[in-house]
Amino acid sequence: MALVTLRQVLDEAGKGGYGVGGFNVNNMEQIQAIMEAARATKSPVIIQASRGARKYTNDKFLYHLMLAAEELYPEIPIVLHQDHGNSAETCISAIDLGFTSAMMDGSLLEDGKTPSDFEFNLKVTKEVVDYAHARGASVEGELGCIGGIEDGHGSGQSRLTDPDQAVEFVKRTGVDALAVAIGTSHGAYKFTRKPDEAILAMNLIIEIHKRLPETHLVMHGSSSVPQELQDIINANGGKIKQTWGVPIEEIQLGIKNGVRKINVDTDSRLAVTGAIRKHFAEHPEHFDPREYLGPAREAMQKVMEQRMNDFGQAGHAGDYQPISLSEMVKRYL
Ligand code: G3H
Ligand code: 13P
Ligand code: ZN
Repeated sequence: MALVTLRQVLDEAGKGGYGVGGFNVNNMEQIQAIMEAARATKSPVIIQASRGARKYTNDKFLYHLMLAAEELYPEIPIVLHQDHGNSAETCISAIDLGFTSAMMDGSLLEDGKTPSDFEFNLKVTKEVVDYAHARGASVEGELGCIGGIEDGHGSGQSRLTDPDQAVEFVKRTGVDALAVAIGTSHGAYKFTRKPDEAILAMNLIIEIHKRLPETHLVMHGSSSVPQELQDIINANGGKIKQTWGVPIEEIQLGIKNGVRKINVDTDSRLAVTGAIRKHFAEHPEHFDPREYLGPAREAMQKVMEQRMNDFGQAGHAGDYQPISLSEMVKRYL
């Protein structure tokens, strides 16, 4: 199996009525955990790198680790996706590097913090769509603002997606997928209680899906922040304040209503941190990184496998043959 585009993976997910996790990576262990989980569950995968991830690893390291994944797991369709591109240049550099998909987050200005206006978002997203589709690559846009500043990304305020604007945005940009803001935020501290409809606007997803039944919707900030992982961290010297993420059943409701991509980063971060803390608490004498990164990788794999099963992507790796980028170019024409 070769690399595949986001468009193909989400079209297939649409046909099958399931969702696919967009999992963030910053290092080898995270990529290995996702790929082992994909093999164990027979799942197609979306591996995504933020600007921060690309900077941390220096692009090429990350990209070549992703290529190693492609080589070592030939049965798994893999999308290489730029997460939260802050400018056309960021997205273009990802596509030029070999990513098969990019998110142009024009909901914010290039600083990645200041909310933009609708016309700015339209213009910059269309610019990326034109560049990407001419090369067969896919584009995810975002309308409305995901809240949260914990990870250094975002304005700190959530601005929910307007369904009327969503219709116009999709029509005028031609994006392959649309990220919608429904009250989630990045990071661990999303909600101070289990979210209900007052703080998590699943009805907005239902409304947007009715208006845009053919558009693949994306949920960001969708880690579930499992209590069990919070407890492991806190039982081993950590200090995570009690917090709630997005319940799996709400994500599954979204999947029934057009959500095809679900972004998860924090759950993997919690898993790795919990496992490392636990290992050091139990083996304070250890200093070989393999001794604690091994269990950390296993903990990430476990949570990734759970998400692949929860989202319904499990079992679908062998459903299709990759469509080449040049064939995608023809289809866009
Ligand atoms: O955009 C949110 C993802 O969790 C990536 O976070 O920018 O800290 O790599 P990051
Ligand atoms: P979480 O912080 O909830 O994992 O969200 C990740 C995300 O949306 C990446 O774009
Ligand atoms: Zn995000």
